[in-house]
Amino acid sequence: MSKQFDVIVIGAGPGGYIAAIRAAQLGMNVACIDEWKNAAGGAAPGGTCTNVGCIPSKALLQSSEHFEHANLHFADHGITATGVKMDVAKMIARKDNVVKQNNDGILYLFKKNKVTFFHGRGSFVKAVDGGYEIKVTGKAEETLTAKQVIVATGSNARALPGAAFDEEQILSNDGALAIGSVPKKLGVIGSGVIGLEMGSVWRRLGADVTILEGLPTFLGAVDEQIAKEAKKAFDKQGLKIELGVKIGEVKAGKKGVSIAYTNAKGEAQALEVDKLIVSIGRVPNTTGLNAEGVGLKLDERGAVVVDGDCKTNLPGVWAVGDVVRGPMLAHKAEEEGVAVAERMAGQHGHVNFNTIPWVIYTSPEIAWVGRTEQQLKADGVKYKAGTFPFLANGRARALGDTTGMVKFLADAATDEILGVHIVGPMASELIAEAVVAMEFKASSEDIARICHAHPSLSEATKEAALAVDKRTLNF
Ligand code: FAD
Ligand code: NAI
Repeated sequence: MSKQFDVIVIGAGPGGYIAAIRAAQLGMNVACIDEWKNAAGGAAPGGTCTNVGCIPSKALLQSSEHFEHANLHFADHGITATGVKMDVAKMIARKDNVVKQNNDGILYLFKKNKVTFFHGRGSFVKAVDGGYEIKVTGKAEETLTAKQVIVATGSNARALPGAAFDEEQILSNDGALAIGSVPKKLGVIGSGVIGLEMGSVWRRLGADVTILEGLPTFLGAVDEQIAKEAKKAFDKQGLKIELGVKIGEVKAGKKGVSIAYTNAKGEAQALEVDKLIVSIGRVPNTTGLNAEGVGLKLDERGAVVVDGDCKTNLPGVWAVGDVVRGPMLAHKAEEEGVAVAERMAGQHGHVNFNTIPWVIYTSPEIAWVGRTEQQLKADGVKYKAGTFPFLANGRARALGDTTGMVKFLADAATDEILGVHIVGPMASELIAEAVVAMEFKASSEDIARICHAHPSLSEATKEAALAVDKRTLNF
């Protein structure tokens, strides 16, 4: 006998679990299936984000930042900290505990919202009576049916051809978040978001980190001025980043990993490291879903094909998050999950792709929303720019962290904010104001006229908005 639901969600990452909760809030009878196992084999809902992504990486970034502060910056405050040591095992155990708290939190939220959770793999069996039969395999073997299905099966790390992940020496994000002791030499391929965040963690803890990047420009998607400022800071910290390389043979041996590559000048090079993180992007995951069995359309990258409303080619089947087009971000997945649940309930859920913020949690943090200066130029948009350095912000001086700036880009004619770009302390938090402003179609003058608390980093945002009109007060 199959169990009947209104909605079945496959995957309990940020896309899936949030969709399940919102659908339940809207009165639907919801099942959510997820196969992730913790070390003891138990359910660990939360997906990549909770288990091997956003949450554990931020835990390690925090620990390693404390360590760096104790070693390098406490002295500026008159604090003597001698013999500062890092217990890597304890740091990893703390990270694991943070992850577990989040896993447990999701199980609690499922109970609270009456979402029925199944721990196992979900796959399509067939279309039945205006809906779908879904098989759950794993500890519990079940057959479920529902009129509506949300596919939220996420993504996996992309491997370099000929260098499969062994998670001992050649590491994906999984292994990079579980290194047991600080490697002397760490190699990273790809200076994208993961490369910079994980490279920063292990550099702060004492590893000699070299990042090899294929593209000739650093962080090409980031506003050029901001990327330049960030690169300067990373160079100063000793994070070695080589751009424009071409990776050749990667060989893991007893002593470590050797990487043959050509540098930007075309010269043959070799890098020997103890461990290598490969962070060259992620691929959508539909393994085991039996998409082909029911005719669910995938594109050439393996992503589920959806329209602007996250509808697939099959009636009643939706897909959200990393498994579909668009940025691979947890908050994008969540917003899509909410929007789909609301559309299923006859409401008008919507995701505004123009106001999705990006954050890179390095030090300095990098955050942005909207278009970059180079994009505006390419689009032929006439704009005004205003910047304000943290060096001139009282709170940043008090914190002892004055790297970076806030940058506003506004339409030359209407003054509507087109993009906000930040590199500096707490950029991840500061960007929220810019997102709200853009969502409400604010002008830079709107922000410039709002009272911001003093002393706060947010005053740099106000001042950058004032700078658009060339009337900063503190610079
Ligand atoms: P996922 O989180 O991948 O979840 C999919 C779930 O589906 C998994 O639990 C999987 O086990 C399950 N599943 C798959 N197939 C099946 C099946 N057939 N049956 C049952 N279950 C199945 N994003 C941010 O916004 N901020 C960050 O700071 C950030 N940091 C990151 C750091 C790292 C190291 C990585 C790798 C990613 C990071 N991301 C970050 C990206 C973020 O993790 C993803 O965008 C997000 O997890 C996508 O959510 P999702 O629900 O689409 O998929
Ligand atoms: P990424 O797309 O951010 O960066 C990959 C980098 O690798 C790019 O710079 C690319 O040019 C380079 N590259 C690709 N192939 C290469 C090759 N063969 N040789 C050398 N360089 C190569 O991907 P990443 O860092 O793997 O992260 C995946 C995704 O996870 C991100 O795009 C993001 O969506 C998400 N994420 C988000 C975070 C956040 O929001 N703070 C943190 C970490 C990940």
